[in-house]
Amino acid sequence: MCGIVGYVGAQQAAPILVEGLTRLEHRGYDSAGLAVLAGTGLKVAKRAGRVRDLADSLPKRFAGKVGIGHTRWATHGPANDVNAHPHGDGKGLVSVVHNGIIDNAAALRHRLADDGVDLVSDTDTEVLAHLIARSGADTLEGKVSEALAAIEGTYGIAVLHVDFPDRIVVARNGSPLIVGVGEREMFVASDLAAIVRHTTTVAHLDDGEIASVTATGFTTYRQDLTATAKSATVVDVDPSSYDAGEHDSFMRKEMFEQPAAAERVLRGRLDERFGTAHLGGLNLDPRENRAIRRVKILGCGSAYYVGQMGAGLVEELARIPADAEAASEFRYRNPIIEPDTLYVAVSQSGETIDTLLAVQEIRRKGGRVVGLVNVVGSAIARECDGGIYLHAGPEVAVASTKALTNMFLGFALLALQLGRVRDLSIADGRRLIAGLSRLPHQIEEVLAQEDALAEVAGRLADAESLFFVGRVRGYPVAREGAQKFKEISYRHAEAYQTSELKHGPLALICETVPTVAIVPADELTDRNVGALHEIAARRGPLVVVTHDGVDLGDLEDRSGVQRIVVPRNERELDPILLTVPLQLLAYHAALRLGHDIDKPRNLAKSVTVE
Ligand code: F6R
Repeated sequence: MCGIVGYVGAQQAAPILVEGLTRLEHRGYDSAGLAVLAGTGLKVAKRAGRVRDLADSLPKRFAGKVGIGHTRWATHGPANDVNAHPHGDGKGLVSVVHNGIIDNAAALRHRLADDGVDLVSDTDTEVLAHLIARSGADTLEGKVSEALAAIEGTYGIAVLHVDFPDRIVVARNGSPLIVGVGEREMFVASDLAAIVRHTTTVAHLDDGEIASVTATGFTTYRQDLTATAKSATVVDVDPSSYDAGEHDSFMRKEMFEQPAAAERVLRGRLDERFGTAHLGGLNLDPRENRAIRRVKILGCGSAYYVGQMGAGLVEELARIPADAEAASEFRYRNPIIEPDTLYVAVSQSGETIDTLLAVQEIRRKGGRVVGLVNVVGSAIARECDGGIYLHAGPEVAVASTKALTNMFLGFALLALQLGRVRDLSIADGRRLIAGLSRLPHQIEEVLAQEDALAEVAGRLADAESLFFVGRVRGYPVAREGAQKFKEISYRHAEAYQTSELKHGPLALICETVPTVAIVPADELTDRNVGALHEIAARRGPLVVVTHDGVDLGDLEDRSGVQRIVVPRNERELDPILLTVPLQLLAYHAALRLGHDIDKPRNLAKSVTVE
């Protein structure tokens, strides 16, 4: 959420910053800006709109070899030219870009106003620029440290100051920041995507750390300016994974990467001999594993819905009570933390603030938390006692697809291991391993149905409002399907348990309100088909996501009933194969409606503010 990039070296900063901002647009895209520093002082360009609007409007002479840039997702004040970052002190001394929220901004604004300071924007960040400019410290690091001592809240910041033209000072508290090391040039960014074409040698700042970055190196400090020993390491990533390549959007690319991503998360983790999973990173020995009496899964949005699928897997395979809860709610109800509960935090980015704060709350109360996280070295991954990395590769589209699939597989591995130290037989363990091994190819088979799914999506796109329904294993699938659909098509899509339809929502069913029904071949098929008849009797159009051989009776030949068939696997693993076609439905509906697939309105990747 919001993106920061910075450069200091021998090249002109502006083109590097613009390119970096373009690669950060999924983090926020309502306005963008740059500041560069040269002998002639600070130059700032910023405006509402996309990064390309900023690039088109940059003045010809925008020279400077030190610079910072920002792409914004508005929190304080609307998206307009004035509220765009960078923010300054009004005298051309300081320029600041900021991700996060300053909680005591209102009080600080009053204090500054009382001192005669004229604040021009609605943002919290402008306060920080003034505090830095007014600091009496004689180094930029000292000024930043002094200003940060006065603020409460979360931040990732990058600061330029005319009196210190050789450096950028950055700081982190709750919003990610990395320093990238080049050849006599250095970079800073909120996300590796912004600088990956220049360097993959990076240092991750910890919360409470400040770094001073010049063309030849960097030094890190605690907020009281005592030094911290931090060195950069090489991240194992292919820079081309940050390009959409032949695809029209990152979402499409990422959906089609799912078979390969699924293979990666399973690789080396399946033990056919003992019918279990190897998960060394969990840091749980078999005795600790057996002592677990309950599993509590925490995530937000799609990660929460896949967490519900994961809870189902744990209950079915390990017979341990398990449930999932929105991490954003958990912390606020003073949760009871039990010593024999395994808490599982699930997050693609590893930066979602609600999930991170939930992890911190659990650990503060002495609970054990493991993470299912995609981004290696991210805040949640570092905060947990152990975990399973998801190896989905970088996910750029706001709508999560391949990371979500790998989360499901991560849960399947966890449930298998928990099950195999309990009552899950070796035969059942091997049955699931065989099922997991078949999944990547079966996901490919679903993706191969894209043309047919596009046609179905075309019809759904015309509906203002639709239902997604499922039962037990199918219910979180319906929730995720509705989430993906509403996120990028902006249609009202509501998920319901099929069994609950007649307790209320059936009143809404009519010829203009379609239902996407999840009807796997399982112990509930007959009941699900019964509910489909109730919908059809009220002339509700139906899309049935099902397995070959499921008998829909006389619904089969009715107009207004469309069938999507996914391959069968072991029934416990059904949810993920039922989810993949729903991604394609959402994608093609949004495409037909002409929406920006990767940057849905009002949303941004990685929600780092509460
Ligand atoms: C939906 C989506 C969001 C995220 C949620 C959690 O497609 O992308 O709902 O799933 O914001 O993000 P992470 O997984 O990064 O914690």
